[in-house]
Amino acid sequence: DGEVFKYYVDGEWRKSSSGKSVAIVNPTTRKTQYRVQACTQEEVNKAIDLAKVAQKSWARTPLWKRAELLHRAAAILKEHKAPIAECLVKEIAKPAKDAVTEVVRSGDLVSYTAEEGVRILGEGKFLVSDSFPGNERSKYCLTSKIPLGVILAIPPFNYPVNLAVSKIGPALIAGNALVLKPPTQGAVAALHMVHCFHLAGFPKGLISCITGKGSEIGDFLTMHPGINCISFTGGDTGVAISKKAGMVPLQMELGGKDACIVLEDADLDLVASNIVKGGFSYSGQRCTAVKVVLVMESVADALVEKVNAKVAKLSVGAPEEDSDITPVVSESSANFIEGLVVDAKEKGATFCQEYKREGNLIWPLLLDHVRPDMRIAWEEPFGPVLPVIRISSVDEGIHHCNASNFGLQGCVFTKDINKAIMISDAMETGTVQINSAPARGPDHFPFQGIKDSGIGSQGITNSINMMTKIKSTVINLP
Ligand code: G3H
Repeated sequence: DGEVFKYYVDGEWRKSSSGKSVAIVNPTTRKTQYRVQACTQEEVNKAIDLAKVAQKSWARTPLWKRAELLHRAAAILKEHKAPIAECLVKEIAKPAKDAVTEVVRSGDLVSYTAEEGVRILGEGKFLVSDSFPGNERSKYCLTSKIPLGVILAIPPFNYPVNLAVSKIGPALIAGNALVLKPPTQGAVAALHMVHCFHLAGFPKGLISCITGKGSEIGDFLTMHPGINCISFTGGDTGVAISKKAGMVPLQMELGGKDACIVLEDADLDLVASNIVKGGFSYSGQRCTAVKVVLVMESVADALVEKVNAKVAKLSVGAPEEDSDITPVVSESSANFIEGLVVDAKEKGATFCQEYKREGNLIWPLLLDHVRPDMRIAWEEPFGPVLPVIRISSVDEGIHHCNASNFGLQGCVFTKDINKAIMISDAMETGTVQINSAPARGPDHFPFQGIKDSGIGSQGITNSINMMTKIKSTVINLP
């Protein structure tokens, strides 16, 4: 207590001149766990200035050397999995095993990014002019991918490490500098992750990690003229950022209301286990969580019974004990979830379990017979509460899915592959999973949302490409 973690700039750890700090409240104990620096706008300016300078020589550093450093960072990250996971447990109440998995997955992501980078950045194109009408073969065009400059990365609380490296890795391999603004909950885990990059030996100033209050430095960072690209994952803030940001490429992954459409011929045991895993892992605090079940009426009773049997087996408690259901990230989040539950109760949803809450800990809850007039039919709880809507036709399910303002992922369960593909085509979401719950990984798969779920596409390859632009050199022959 009393210690305030330093922020990272110019290759070193510093205290903010503000003399102020931001408290990180442990979701389980609801007491201050850590403190981080409340950085000032001048400190943001300094970090971006240094990033600009460092980026110029980084872009000239051979690609294989950039890859080598990323591989080193990935290995160090994995070596540090235990202390980083401990931060995740304390800051965001991620179950202990999942916290370790997040760090290991992050190391793998960074290594894969290095490998993918040397392949896709190691080649360009050669074009000749005489394919276009009216041209002789008198112009040769050489293209390559060049970095954008300084990338601003803003990951969310639910993956402070993994969704940071999914931006940092592509940015760095492509020759960019990186300014990281971690979420407050998860900031210490992110600082520790940055420490691994520090130990790997990246040049001074290339990477910085600025902690602080969104109200003080949020808009200042996102509207800063020195930022050349923003990669953001989170909620509504992303919509505000996209309205305010200047003329820079944006990569946004925002919310989701991922639907799970269950047909009459589906394997209901498979569906039930995917609903429980998809809906309740990390207490539903994933943008890709199953957020509404749309099940054909004829199999609904059987499915709900199977899901309830599995929900009854979920352990509820502290993340240190690796409980399945752990406290949600904050009191305001718990209050929001409760608001959705109360609304559903008032409007007549069937409660399959008793609603129970202690502090930020909310017991898993399946709500059956949810109707479209209930808020939970449309809103994203980001908690362990899952609505079931009974449908009388597949079209009704597709219609509900497409009426959402979100369009991240969705899933469909059926043994009929032709139907599954037709439904996938009809669902207005970035990805449709057939016979499995939505998920972002494996991390090299394209990952994108449509409508309010985001801008652009992620996944390792897409992120590398997004953080570069094409440079052409045209040779004009005499
Ligand atoms: O919360 C949003 C994440 O991108 C979801 O990732 O599917 O690996 O949990 P995940």
